Amino acid sequence: MTDNNPNAKNNTVICHCTETSRAALTDLIQKGFDTLESVSRMTGACSGCGACEMAILELIAEHN
Ligand code: FES
Repeated sequence: MTDNNPNAKNNTVICHCTETSRAALTDLIQKGFDTLESVSRMTGACSGCGACEMAILELIAEHN
């Protein structure tokens, strides 16, 4: 895999506490789970240290 591979980017882990990938979060956002609270409820992302909060909010903003 290279940095130019879009799948590599999608498989990037956004929340390291729960190992939630960008792809998993994007899939939920596209299904209408478009708040931090709702994606957190579905994946557990952002329920640990909270370091991923800004990255998740940015991902939500990208899709809205
Ligand atoms: S990295 Fe997401 S809660 Fe810690």
